[in-house]
Amino acid sequence: MVKFLDLGLQPLANSYLKKKNLNRKEKKFKLEVAFNSKNYLVSIVNTVPKEKMFNNMYPYKSSESKTMQKSFKNLTKKIKQNFKTDFIIEIGSNDGIFLKNFNKQSVVGVEPCKNLAKLTKNINYTTYSEYWNIKLARKITKNKKADLIYSANTLSHIKNLNEIFKAINYSLSDKGILILEDPSLLKCIKNVAYDQFYCEHIYVFSTISLKNILNNFDLEIFDIQNLSTHGGSNRYFIKKKINKNFQIKNSVKNEVKKEIKFGLQKISTFKKFAKKVKKSKIKLLNIFKKLKKKKLNIIGYGATAKSCTILNYCKIGDKFIDYFYDTTSYKINRYLPGSKILIKKYKKLNKKNVDIVFLGAWNFKEEIFKKEKDFIKKGGKFIIHIPTPKII
Ligand code: TYD
Repeated sequence: MVKFLDLGLQPLANSYLKKKNLNRKEKKFKLEVAFNSKNYLVSIVNTVPKEKMFNNMYPYKSSESKTMQKSFKNLTKKIKQNFKTDFIIEIGSNDGIFLKNFNKQSVVGVEPCKNLAKLTKNINYTTYSEYWNIKLARKITKNKKADLIYSANTLSHIKNLNEIFKAINYSLSDKGILILEDPSLLKCIKNVAYDQFYCEHIYVFSTISLKNILNNFDLEIFDIQNLSTHGGSNRYFIKKKINKNFQIKNSVKNEVKKEIKFGLQKISTFKKFAKKVKKSKIKLLNIFKKLKKKKLNIIGYGATAKSCTILNYCKIGDKFIDYFYDTTSYKINRYLPGSKILIKKYKKLNKKNVDIVFLGAWNFKEEIFKKEKDFIKKGGKFIIHIPTPKII
Protein backbone atom coordinates (compact mmCIF):
# COMPACT_ATOMS: atom_id res chain seq x y z
CA MET A 1 0.00 0.00 0.00
CA VAL A 2 1.31 3.43 -0.91
CA LYS A 3 0.00 6.43 1.03
CA PHE A 4 -0.74 9.33 -1.27
CA LEU A 5 -2.96 11.71 0.69
CA ASP A 6 -2.85 13.09 4.23
CA LEU A 7 -6.05 14.84 5.33
CA GLY A 8 -4.82 15.46 8.87
CA LEU A 9 -6.41 14.68 12.21
CA GLN A 10 -10.15 14.27 11.80
CA PRO A 11 -13.03 13.66 14.21
CA LEU A 12 -15.63 10.95 13.49
CA ALA A 13 -17.67 12.46 10.68
CA ASN A 14 -21.16 11.68 11.92
CA SER A 15 -20.48 12.48 15.61
CA TYR A 16 -22.48 15.68 15.83
CA LEU A 17 -21.95 17.40 19.17
CA LYS A 18 -24.50 18.52 21.72
CA LYS A 19 -23.96 22.01 23.17
CA LYS A 20 -23.17 20.61 26.63
CA ASN A 21 -20.33 18.52 25.13
CA LEU A 22 -18.67 21.28 23.15
CA ASN A 23 -15.72 21.49 25.52
CA ARG A 24 -15.22 17.74 25.77
CA LYS A 25 -12.15 16.39 23.97
CA GLU A 26 -13.20 14.78 20.70
CA LYS A 27 -11.85 11.43 19.48
CA LYS A 28 -9.70 12.08 16.44
CA PHE A 29 -7.89 9.84 13.99
CA LYS A 30 -5.32 10.36 11.27
CA LEU A 31 -7.08 10.41 7.90
CA GLU A 32 -4.67 9.12 5.29
CA VAL A 33 -5.51 7.50 1.96
CA ALA A 34 -3.52 4.77 0.22
CA PHE A 35 -3.38 2.86 -3.07
CA ASN A 36 -2.80 -0.86 -3.36
CA SER A 37 -0.85 -1.39 -6.57
CA LYS A 38 -1.65 -5.13 -6.60
CA ASN A 39 -5.45 -4.99 -6.68
CA TYR A 40 -5.87 -1.22 -7.40
CA LEU A 41 -7.95 -0.70 -4.25
CA VAL A 42 -7.98 2.79 -2.69
CA SER A 43 -8.65 2.84 1.03
CA ILE A 44 -8.12 4.88 4.16
CA VAL A 45 -5.17 3.72 6.26
CA ASN A 46 -6.46 4.00 9.83
CA THR A 47 -9.94 2.74 10.52
CA VAL A 48 -12.30 3.39 13.39
CA PRO A 49 -14.10 0.44 15.10
CA LYS A 50 -17.47 -0.04 13.40
CA GLU A 51 -19.41 0.08 16.69
CA LYS A 52 -18.25 3.69 17.14
CA MET A 53 -19.82 4.70 13.81
CA PHE A 54 -22.84 2.49 13.23
CA ASN A 55 -24.86 2.34 16.39
CA ASN A 56 -28.26 3.39 17.68
CA MET A 57 -27.73 7.06 16.82
CA TYR A 58 -26.89 6.97 13.12
CA PRO A 59 -28.13 10.29 11.71
CA TYR A 60 -28.31 9.66 7.97
CA LYS A 61 -31.68 8.73 6.47
CA SER A 62 -31.82 8.08 2.73
CA SER A 63 -35.54 8.88 2.39
CA GLU A 64 -35.03 12.53 3.27
CA SER A 65 -33.85 13.29 -0.25
CA LYS A 66 -36.07 13.38 -3.32
CA THR A 67 -33.05 12.56 -5.51
CA MET A 68 -32.42 9.33 -3.60
CA GLN A 69 -36.10 8.35 -3.61
CA LYS A 70 -36.19 8.74 -7.38
CA SER A 71 -33.00 6.74 -7.81
CA PHE A 72 -34.37 3.82 -5.75
CA LYS A 73 -37.74 3.90 -7.56
CA ASN A 74 -36.02 3.64 -10.95
CA LEU A 75 -33.90 0.76 -9.76
CA THR A 76 -36.92 -1.12 -8.41
CA LYS A 77 -38.60 -0.90 -11.81
CA LYS A 78 -35.50 -2.25 -13.52
CA ILE A 79 -35.19 -5.09 -11.02
CA LYS A 80 -38.82 -6.15 -11.34
CA GLN A 81 -38.55 -6.17 -15.12
CA ASN A 82 -35.29 -8.10 -15.37
CA PHE A 83 -34.71 -10.33 -12.38
CA LYS A 84 -36.37 -12.90 -10.15
CA THR A 85 -37.48 -11.22 -6.93
CA ASP A 86 -39.02 -13.95 -4.78
CA PHE A 87 -36.36 -13.53 -2.10
CA ILE A 88 -34.33 -10.33 -1.77
CA ILE A 89 -31.79 -9.37 0.89
CA GLU A 90 -30.67 -5.79 1.35
CA ILE A 91 -27.39 -5.18 3.18
CA GLY A 92 -27.59 -1.74 4.83
CA SER A 93 -31.33 -1.17 4.51
CA ASN A 94 -31.19 2.24 6.25
CA ASP A 95 -34.74 3.60 6.67
CA GLY A 96 -36.30 1.22 4.15
CA ILE A 97 -36.10 3.43 1.06
CA PHE A 98 -35.48 0.31 -1.11
CA LEU A 99 -37.30 -2.36 0.91
CA LYS A 100 -40.57 -0.50 0.83
CA ASN A 101 -40.84 -0.97 -2.94
CA PHE A 102 -41.29 -4.74 -2.46
CA ASN A 103 -43.85 -6.82 -0.64
CA LYS A 104 -43.05 -7.71 2.94
CA GLN A 105 -42.84 -11.46 2.35
CA SER A 106 -40.13 -11.17 -0.27
CA VAL A 107 -37.51 -8.93 1.37
CA VAL A 108 -35.19 -9.03 4.35
CA GLY A 109 -33.27 -5.99 5.55
CA VAL A 110 -29.93 -6.01 7.38
CA GLU A 111 -29.25 -2.80 9.24
CA PRO A 112 -26.92 -2.64 12.27
CA CYS A 113 -27.97 0.90 13.22
CA LYS A 114 -30.76 0.15 15.66
CA ASN A 115 -32.53 3.51 15.30
CA LEU A 116 -32.89 2.86 11.55
CA ALA A 117 -33.71 -0.87 11.77
CA LYS A 118 -36.57 0.03 14.11
CA LEU A 119 -38.20 2.10 11.37
CA THR A 120 -38.63 -0.88 9.04
CA LYS A 121 -39.33 -3.38 11.84
CA ASN A 122 -42.19 -1.14 12.96
CA ILE A 123 -43.88 -1.50 9.59
CA ASN A 124 -43.37 -5.28 9.63
CA TYR A 125 -40.46 -5.65 7.24
CA THR A 126 -38.15 -8.41 8.51
CA THR A 127 -35.02 -6.52 9.55
CA TYR A 128 -31.94 -7.93 11.26
CA SER A 129 -30.32 -5.28 13.38
CA GLU A 130 -26.88 -6.88 12.99
CA TYR A 131 -23.69 -6.53 10.97
CA TRP A 132 -23.64 -8.56 7.77
CA ASN A 133 -21.38 -11.61 8.14
CA ILE A 134 -21.27 -15.31 7.43
CA LYS A 135 -23.08 -16.19 10.65
CA LEU A 136 -25.99 -13.93 9.78
CA ALA A 137 -25.99 -15.12 6.16
CA ARG A 138 -26.37 -18.71 7.40
CA LYS A 139 -29.23 -17.70 9.65
CA ILE A 140 -31.13 -15.82 6.92
CA THR A 141 -30.60 -18.26 4.05
CA LYS A 142 -30.51 -21.61 5.87
CA ASN A 143 -33.52 -22.94 3.94
CA LYS A 144 -33.56 -20.85 0.80
CA LYS A 145 -30.90 -18.87 -1.06
CA ALA A 146 -31.49 -15.31 -2.23
CA ASP A 147 -32.50 -14.42 -5.81
CA LEU A 148 -31.14 -10.96 -5.36
CA ILE A 149 -28.82 -9.23 -2.91
CA TYR A 150 -28.70 -5.47 -2.99
CA SER A 151 -26.38 -3.10 -1.18
CA ALA A 152 -26.04 0.63 -1.74
CA ASN A 153 -23.45 2.85 -0.08
CA THR A 154 -22.66 0.19 2.47
CA LEU A 155 -19.83 -2.03 1.26
CA SER A 156 -17.50 0.97 1.13
CA HIS A 157 -18.13 1.25 4.89
CA ILE A 158 -17.11 -2.32 5.78
CA LYS A 159 -13.47 -3.14 6.48
CA ASN A 160 -13.44 -6.90 6.09
CA LEU A 161 -14.39 -7.38 2.45
CA ASN A 162 -13.44 -11.07 2.58
CA GLU A 163 -16.07 -11.80 5.20
CA ILE A 164 -18.64 -9.74 3.28
CA PHE A 165 -18.16 -11.53 -0.01
CA LYS A 166 -17.91 -14.94 1.62
CA ALA A 167 -21.30 -14.28 3.19
CA ILE A 168 -22.72 -12.98 -0.08
CA ASN A 169 -21.44 -15.99 -1.98
CA TYR A 170 -22.96 -18.33 0.57
CA SER A 171 -26.40 -16.73 0.54
CA LEU A 172 -26.81 -15.99 -3.17
CA SER A 173 -28.44 -18.71 -5.29
CA ASP A 174 -26.37 -19.88 -8.26
CA LYS A 175 -28.72 -18.01 -10.59
CA GLY A 176 -28.95 -15.05 -8.24
CA ILE A 177 -27.90 -11.45 -8.85
CA LEU A 178 -25.88 -9.13 -6.66
CA ILE A 179 -26.31 -5.39 -7.17
CA LEU A 180 -23.79 -3.09 -5.55
CA GLU A 181 -23.83 0.67 -5.62
CA ASP A 182 -21.11 2.95 -4.32
CA PRO A 183 -19.36 6.25 -5.16
CA SER A 184 -17.11 5.96 -8.18
CA LEU A 185 -13.37 6.45 -7.69
CA LEU A 186 -13.09 7.83 -11.22
CA LYS A 187 -15.60 10.59 -10.41
CA CYS A 188 -14.01 11.23 -7.03
CA ILE A 189 -10.52 11.71 -8.52
CA LYS A 190 -11.72 13.65 -11.58
CA ASN A 191 -13.78 16.03 -9.41
CA VAL A 192 -11.09 16.42 -6.73
CA ALA A 193 -13.86 15.29 -4.37
CA TYR A 194 -11.50 14.45 -1.54
CA ASP A 195 -14.41 14.75 0.87
CA GLN A 196 -15.45 11.25 -0.23
CA PHE A 197 -12.78 10.17 2.25
CA TYR A 198 -13.84 10.10 5.90
CA CYS A 199 -13.93 7.54 8.68
CA GLU A 200 -16.94 5.66 7.30
CA HIS A 201 -15.74 5.53 3.72
CA ILE A 202 -13.01 2.94 4.14
CA TYR A 203 -12.96 2.28 0.40
CA VAL A 204 -13.81 4.25 -2.71
CA PHE A 205 -14.11 1.57 -5.39
CA SER A 206 -13.04 1.63 -8.99
CA THR A 207 -14.39 -0.99 -11.37
CA ILE A 208 -10.90 -2.41 -11.83
CA SER A 209 -10.42 -2.87 -8.08
CA LEU A 210 -13.87 -4.38 -7.57
CA LYS A 211 -13.29 -6.79 -10.44
CA ASN A 212 -10.12 -8.03 -8.73
CA ILE A 213 -11.88 -8.58 -5.42
CA LEU A 214 -14.90 -10.30 -6.98
CA ASN A 215 -12.61 -12.60 -8.92
CA ASN A 216 -11.43 -14.12 -5.62
CA PHE A 217 -15.01 -15.20 -4.96
CA ASP A 218 -15.88 -16.47 -8.45
CA LEU A 219 -18.12 -13.48 -9.00
CA GLU A 220 -18.11 -11.17 -12.02
CA ILE A 221 -19.64 -7.87 -13.10
CA PHE A 222 -21.96 -8.19 -16.13
CA ASP A 223 -23.36 -4.66 -16.35
CA ILE A 224 -22.58 -1.19 -14.99
CA GLN A 225 -24.79 1.84 -14.74
CA ASN A 226 -23.31 5.29 -14.04
CA LEU A 227 -25.41 7.25 -11.55
CA SER A 228 -25.38 10.88 -10.48
CA THR A 229 -26.05 10.09 -6.80
CA HIS A 230 -23.41 10.85 -4.16
CA GLY A 231 -21.47 12.97 -6.61
CA GLY A 232 -21.18 10.15 -9.16
CA SER A 233 -21.66 6.50 -8.33
CA ASN A 234 -21.60 3.19 -10.14
CA ARG A 235 -24.26 0.52 -9.92
CA TYR A 236 -22.66 -2.87 -10.56
CA PHE A 237 -24.72 -5.89 -11.65
CA ILE A 238 -22.85 -9.01 -10.56
CA LYS A 239 -23.37 -12.76 -10.99
CA LYS A 240 -21.64 -15.98 -10.11
CA LYS A 241 -19.25 -17.04 -12.87
CA ILE A 242 -21.12 -20.34 -13.22
CA ASN A 243 -24.31 -18.45 -14.09
CA LYS A 244 -24.44 -18.27 -17.87
CA ASN A 245 -27.91 -16.64 -17.99
CA PHE A 246 -26.50 -13.14 -18.44
CA GLN A 247 -23.99 -11.98 -21.00
CA ILE A 248 -21.31 -9.49 -20.00
CA LYS A 249 -22.38 -6.16 -21.48
CA ASN A 250 -20.16 -3.61 -23.19
CA SER A 251 -20.77 -1.21 -20.30
CA VAL A 252 -18.22 -3.22 -18.28
CA LYS A 253 -15.51 -3.05 -20.94
CA ASN A 254 -16.20 0.64 -21.50
CA GLU A 255 -15.97 1.55 -17.81
CA VAL A 256 -12.70 -0.37 -17.45
CA LYS A 257 -11.35 1.40 -20.53
CA LYS A 258 -12.28 4.83 -19.09
CA GLU A 259 -10.58 4.02 -15.80
CA ILE A 260 -7.39 2.70 -17.38
CA LYS A 261 -7.24 5.69 -19.73
CA PHE A 262 -7.52 8.01 -16.74
CA GLY A 263 -4.83 6.03 -14.90
CA LEU A 264 -6.64 4.48 -11.94
CA GLN A 265 -4.14 1.62 -12.08
CA LYS A 266 -1.16 3.96 -11.47
CA ILE A 267 0.09 5.56 -8.26
CA SER A 268 1.20 8.64 -10.24
CA THR A 269 -2.49 9.50 -10.85
CA PHE A 270 -3.16 9.56 -7.12
CA LYS A 271 -0.06 11.61 -6.39
CA LYS A 272 -1.27 14.18 -8.92
CA PHE A 273 -4.67 14.14 -7.22
CA ALA A 274 -3.04 14.83 -3.84
CA LYS A 275 -1.37 17.93 -5.28
CA LYS A 276 -4.72 19.15 -6.58
CA VAL A 277 -6.23 18.63 -3.11
CA LYS A 278 -3.60 20.91 -1.56
CA LYS A 279 -4.31 23.60 -4.16
CA SER A 280 -8.06 23.21 -3.62
CA LYS A 281 -7.60 23.89 0.11
CA ILE A 282 -5.66 27.10 -0.52
CA LYS A 283 -8.20 28.32 -3.04
CA LEU A 284 -11.15 27.60 -0.79
CA LEU A 285 -9.55 29.36 2.18
CA ASN A 286 -8.79 32.41 0.01
CA ILE A 287 -12.43 32.61 -1.06
CA PHE A 288 -13.60 32.55 2.56
CA LYS A 289 -11.00 35.14 3.64
CA LYS A 290 -11.96 37.53 0.83
CA LEU A 291 -15.68 37.25 1.57
CA LYS A 292 -15.18 37.75 5.30
CA LYS A 293 -13.15 40.88 4.64
CA LYS A 294 -16.26 42.22 2.94
CA LYS A 295 -18.19 41.31 6.12
CA LEU A 296 -20.61 39.09 4.22
CA ASN A 297 -22.87 36.60 6.01
CA ILE A 298 -21.82 33.10 5.07
CA ILE A 299 -23.76 30.02 6.09
CA GLY A 300 -23.44 26.33 5.20
CA TYR A 301 -26.10 24.15 3.55
CA GLY A 302 -26.21 20.41 4.27
CA ALA A 303 -24.12 19.38 7.29
CA THR A 304 -22.81 16.31 5.50
CA ALA A 305 -20.16 13.85 6.61
CA LYS A 306 -18.28 15.06 3.55
CA SER A 307 -18.25 18.63 4.94
CA CYS A 308 -16.53 17.31 8.03
CA THR A 309 -13.46 16.33 5.97
CA ILE A 310 -13.39 19.70 4.17
CA LEU A 311 -13.93 21.87 7.24
CA ASN A 312 -11.34 20.07 9.36
CA TYR A 313 -8.74 19.70 6.64
CA CYS A 314 -9.05 23.35 5.58
CA LYS A 315 -9.49 24.53 9.21
CA ILE A 316 -12.74 26.35 8.47
CA GLY A 317 -14.68 27.10 11.65
CA ASP A 318 -17.37 29.47 12.86
CA LYS A 319 -15.19 32.49 12.07
CA PHE A 320 -16.01 31.80 8.43
CA ILE A 321 -19.37 30.02 8.53
CA ASP A 322 -22.01 31.38 10.94
CA TYR A 323 -24.10 28.18 10.98
CA PHE A 324 -25.30 25.33 8.75
CA TYR A 325 -28.85 24.61 7.65
CA ASP A 326 -29.88 20.95 7.52
CA THR A 327 -33.19 19.12 7.24
CA THR A 328 -32.16 16.09 9.34
CA SER A 329 -33.94 16.32 12.69
CA TYR A 330 -31.11 14.52 14.55
CA LYS A 331 -28.52 17.09 13.47
CA ILE A 332 -30.52 20.19 14.39
CA ASN A 333 -29.15 22.20 17.34
CA ARG A 334 -26.03 20.07 17.37
CA TYR A 335 -22.58 21.13 16.20
CA LEU A 336 -20.44 19.76 13.39
CA PRO A 337 -17.59 17.63 14.75
CA GLY A 338 -14.19 19.33 14.90
CA SER A 339 -15.20 22.64 13.37
CA LYS A 340 -17.96 23.05 16.00
CA ILE A 341 -20.25 25.03 13.72
CA LEU A 342 -23.90 25.12 14.85
CA ILE A 343 -26.52 23.30 12.73
CA LYS A 344 -29.89 25.02 12.54
CA LYS A 345 -33.25 23.75 11.34
CA TYR A 346 -33.53 24.39 7.63
CA LYS A 347 -35.38 27.50 6.47
CA LYS A 348 -35.76 28.64 2.88
CA LEU A 349 -32.76 30.83 2.07
CA ASN A 350 -33.46 34.53 2.39
CA LYS A 351 -31.23 37.20 0.86
CA LYS A 352 -32.14 39.52 3.78
CA ASN A 353 -29.93 37.65 6.25
CA VAL A 354 -27.73 35.42 4.08
CA ASP A 355 -25.31 36.62 1.42
CA ILE A 356 -23.52 33.49 0.49
CA VAL A 357 -23.88 29.77 1.12
CA PHE A 358 -21.23 27.05 1.35
CA LEU A 359 -22.76 23.99 -0.30
CA GLY A 360 -21.83 21.12 2.01
CA ALA A 361 -24.31 18.85 0.19
CA TRP A 362 -22.84 19.60 -3.24
CA ASN A 363 -23.99 16.19 -4.42
CA PHE A 364 -27.57 17.51 -4.22
CA LYS A 365 -26.78 20.71 -6.10
CA GLU A 366 -29.63 20.39 -8.64
CA GLU A 367 -32.25 19.55 -5.99
CA ILE A 368 -31.08 22.40 -3.74
CA PHE A 369 -30.80 25.01 -6.51
CA LYS A 370 -34.35 24.21 -7.57
CA LYS A 371 -35.54 24.65 -3.99
CA GLU A 372 -33.66 27.93 -3.56
CA LYS A 373 -34.45 29.55 -6.90
CA ASP A 374 -35.86 32.71 -5.25
CA PHE A 375 -32.63 33.25 -3.32
CA ILE A 376 -30.62 32.75 -6.53
CA LYS A 377 -32.90 35.14 -8.48
CA LYS A 378 -32.29 37.82 -5.88
CA GLY A 379 -28.53 37.50 -6.31
CA GLY A 380 -27.80 34.92 -3.60
CA LYS A 381 -24.56 33.04 -4.27
CA PHE A 382 -23.05 29.67 -3.38
CA ILE A 383 -19.50 28.57 -2.66
CA ILE A 384 -18.85 25.18 -4.18
CA HIS A 385 -15.51 23.39 -3.88
CA ILE A 386 -16.11 20.73 -6.58
CA PRO A 387 -14.28 20.35 -8.96
CA THR A 388 -12.42 23.52 -8.01
CA PRO A 389 -13.45 26.06 -5.34
CA LYS A 390 -15.51 28.92 -6.77
CA ILE A 391 -18.48 31.19 -6.20
CA ILE A 392 -21.51 30.50 -8.37
P1 TYD B 1 -25.26 13.27 2.08
O1 TYD B 1 -24.48 14.12 1.17
O2 TYD B 1 -26.20 12.34 1.48
O3 TYD B 1 -24.33 12.37 2.93
P2 TYD B 1 -22.95 12.34 3.62
O4 TYD B 1 -23.29 12.76 5.02
O5 TYD B 1 -22.72 10.91 3.44
O6 TYD B 1 -21.87 13.18 3.02
O7 TYD B 1 -26.06 14.18 3.15
C1 TYD B 1 -26.90 15.18 2.74
C2 TYD B 1 -27.18 16.10 3.90
O8 TYD B 1 -27.71 17.32 3.39
C3 TYD B 1 -28.16 15.57 4.91
O9 TYD B 1 -27.75 15.92 6.21
C4 TYD B 1 -29.45 16.31 4.57
C5 TYD B 1 -28.96 17.60 4.01
N1 TYD B 1 -29.86 18.18 3.01
C6 TYD B 1 -30.53 19.36 3.33
O10 TYD B 1 -30.38 19.89 4.43
N2 TYD B 1 -31.37 19.91 2.39
C7 TYD B 1 -31.57 19.34 1.18
O11 TYD B 1 -32.34 19.87 0.36
C8 TYD B 1 -30.86 18.14 0.86
C9 TYD B 1 -31.04 17.48 -0.47
C10 TYD B 1 -30.02 17.60 1.81
